[in-house]
Amino acid sequence: METPSPYQHIVHSRQCDKSFLTSLFSLTDEIRKNPSLFSQELRGKVAATLFYEPSTRTRMSFESAVMRLGGSVISTENAGAFSSAAKGETIEDTMRMLSHYAEFIIMRHYDDDAFEHALNAVEVPFINAGSGRAEHPTQSLLDLYTIHRELGRENDIHVVIVGDLKNGRTVRSLACLLRHYHNIHITFVSPPPLRITDTLRSYLVEHHVAFTETADFEEPLRKADVVYQTRVQKERFDDPTEYQRHKGCYVITRDCAQHMPKDSIIMHPLPRVDEITPDVDDDPRCRYFIQARNGMWVRMALLTVLNRHNYGHA
Ligand code: NCD
Repeated sequence: METPSPYQHIVHSRQCDKSFLTSLFSLTDEIRKNPSLFSQELRGKVAATLFYEPSTRTRMSFESAVMRLGGSVISTENAGAFSSAAKGETIEDTMRMLSHYAEFIIMRHYDDDAFEHALNAVEVPFINAGSGRAEHPTQSLLDLYTIHRELGRENDIHVVIVGDLKNGRTVRSLACLLRHYHNIHITFVSPPPLRITDTLRSYLVEHHVAFTETADFEEPLRKADVVYQTRVQKERFDDPTEYQRHKGCYVITRDCAQHMPKDSIIMHPLPRVDEITPDVDDDPRCRYFIQARNGMWVRMALLTVLNRHNYGHA
């Protein structure tokens, strides 16, 4: 499949080059400083949100973003059960129809390659809001924006990514984006069966991103600028005993946060289960709720970019 321009559709994070990221983040800053200037940006436009998998933050922050830009939302959550997919309709046919009802389509799907089917037929800007284990590009945009804003830089960073690296789509999307910056080192911390995929490993090697893989948690924390904790992805395990074995493999507690540098930050795409204890929430280094809030601003900026490039200025 030919990769579309990120000004047309957002399907995976590898599409986004450095200049796209820089301009998206400066537009995000502009919007958050002065949201009222953008309140008519999507006037008269409709966004369809079609979620075949559970979501709280991604769907609601997208819907809030559309409404704050003056647009309207049509939505079906649990699309697998409540949309015509339950009757056997293909993603292609759903996209063809929705392209007449909405100016933007935002879809989350349990299949890794669902967005490829969508691109075969969609006639309006399309945003992948999470596809199987594969990709979650808008999450990686808000993750990177949070790093940029909270550390004040994107270069010279040691990022420690922890947890279910095999099944977590946010991990994959974020690691790919980090290739655009200098002097990045990623330490991937996971139990051996949940290590990063060969595809991601090859991608990082090909793009000269320095990384190490380990099962040790404590040592990397001591030298981290960013600790990116993730959930063991229960729904992706065929064997529930496998999930039970790995659940709780790495937990950030108050005690273990003591090992982290004072000026480091703790991130998590959320939802959290038990991998960060609630008493860490008061730690000044915790950023996961700020990160979730940033999601709305970044999604407002993204919708503004897609709107201007595909429909001209409001
Ligand atoms: C993530 C996802 O859906 O991949 N959640 C989110 O969108 N913030 C992470 C997860 O579910 O663990």
